[in-house]
Amino acid sequence: MKKKIKKSGFDNNLTNYGDIEFSSYLRRSFAKSMGYTDESLNKPIVGIINTSSGFNSCHRHFPEMIDALKRGINSNGCLPVEFPVISLGEVYLHPTSMMFRNLMSMDVEEMIRAQPLDAVVLLGGCDKTLPAMIMGAISAQKPFVVLPAGPMITSKFENNRLGACTDCRRYWSNYREGKISRHKISEVENKLASSAGTCSVMGTASTMACISEVMGLCLTDSSCVPAVYSERLNIAEKTGIICAKIARKKIKKIKKINKQDIYNALVCLLSLGGSTNAIIHLTAIAGRLGIKVDLREFNKISNKTPVLVDLKPTGKFYMEDFYHAGGMKALLKELKPLLKLGTSNIEGKSLSTIINSNSKSFHDQNVIRSRKKPFEKHGGLISLFGNICPSGAILKRSAADKKLFEKTGKAVVFEDIKSMSKLIDNKSLKISKNDFLILKNIGPKTVYGMPEAGYLPIPKKLLKSGVKDMIRISDGRMSGTAFGTIILHVSPESSVGGPFSIIKNGDKIKLSVKNKRLDLIISKNELKNRLNKQISKKIPNIKRGYLKLYYDSVLQAHEGCDFDFLQYKK
Ligand code: FES
Repeated sequence: MKKKIKKSGFDNNLTNYGDIEFSSYLRRSFAKSMGYTDESLNKPIVGIINTSSGFNSCHRHFPEMIDALKRGINSNGCLPVEFPVISLGEVYLHPTSMMFRNLMSMDVEEMIRAQPLDAVVLLGGCDKTLPAMIMGAISAQKPFVVLPAGPMITSKFENNRLGACTDCRRYWSNYREGKISRHKISEVENKLASSAGTCSVMGTASTMACISEVMGLCLTDSSCVPAVYSERLNIAEKTGIICAKIARKKIKKIKKINKQDIYNALVCLLSLGGSTNAIIHLTAIAGRLGIKVDLREFNKISNKTPVLVDLKPTGKFYMEDFYHAGGMKALLKELKPLLKLGTSNIEGKSLSTIINSNSKSFHDQNVIRSRKKPFEKHGGLISLFGNICPSGAILKRSAADKKLFEKTGKAVVFEDIKSMSKLIDNKSLKISKNDFLILKNIGPKTVYGMPEAGYLPIPKKLLKSGVKDMIRISDGRMSGTAFGTIILHVSPESSVGGPFSIIKNGDKIKLSVKNKRLDLIISKNELKNRLNKQISKKIPNIKRGYLKLYYDSVLQAHEGCDFDFLQYKK
């Protein structure tokens, strides 16, 4: 008699040998080499994507989290199966992790699609890992739940709190100024990343985790409980339970990200004073669903969304303080009138139900301000438009010096990173604190792959004369943990012939945050002439492998830097 093949558990997505019963028999016999019983093999499978790696210090606690996840999955009638995908440890990748986000998303998409999974937990955290996994899981169209790594806790150096990675930049700047010795900077190096988990400030990793929570992709508190707390393991076990219920179809309403979720994510990003990188990742996530993130609309949301969280790099507290102050529960309570409340989470609960059920939870208003007394009146990020950035550029105004917001200055131009590194501290560099530093050719279609080099160092001679900030503009990115009056993501980038490439040394540039403008002061004729004489495109000519795919397909910053063929197609 023919065996009935289920479309669940190990019999799901069978390898095709032309005889489905043989496929099931063969797969099960190999699975039994791992000691599985028939009872286990007949259960629905919850996959656990394990992104731990010897090159990812932020994920070094994942074995413990996976144990807790498995407990939750097992206790709810499913079989947990963990499997690896590419891991992206932010500081271990050359030229930049950004170049590999889409590769990771393709790995995630195809492994979710190909393997016998009924639902999957996306366990990640370090900057690009969550967006890459969410993008991949959306495209794979299988139910998924996010479990963020959780932030690091802080340590101390000479009685000052120390947390990766905003403080690393402050100390490095002191070292460059000659204020602290080589010995002291080595001591800071020893203590900076003091535990497992992601950077301890509102950098890209924490921003993406918080955004995942507001979009309903993970359980309440998943974003901000520190990585090393027992509560994180408790959340992992609960996540396992929920994902098992989803796999067993006990939760009927499967979470699907929609326009309202993207809107809520933008509100959350702005109120957190979150990372500039998050706007690229959110645009890419939305692009997988056919939803457009319009940067002009983004400015409208920014104008009515206050920054409520006093966290580094914008403010003074750390992620563990955010958690103890009430975390996302408290923030969402404050943001309630600004959010679309009809959306639901992985448990099928509406956002309004989640907020109402947490309405009496503790809330420390020193860290998470009320809307009446915000940390900043307007959102943390804005986009700028102008003749050098017709498709947009991004400024993190909450981490910038307001005195520089309405300013015209002279351009000091570096054509690429190499010339910048060579000249920036050169005594012969003619520069004043009122000039605008311009770095070209670090966009997505360069050999650098849009690195976090937009945080241009202030020239040593200005540092020594007490200059702490100046306007810096590039087509690259900066770390979510960085600060300063830094304009990023200029689009289209210079290497594809965008008008940013026509700026010359000594040109006048005008920034107006009030008008959301960034313009080269030049006559229309001169602009036309320079564009007509446009220098040829500088896209690397790669003939093989992933990099060929990358340069052929990567989109501009305002399109999320996704690959054109990975975006949603009808
Ligand atoms: Fe991993 Fe900052 S380096 S989150």
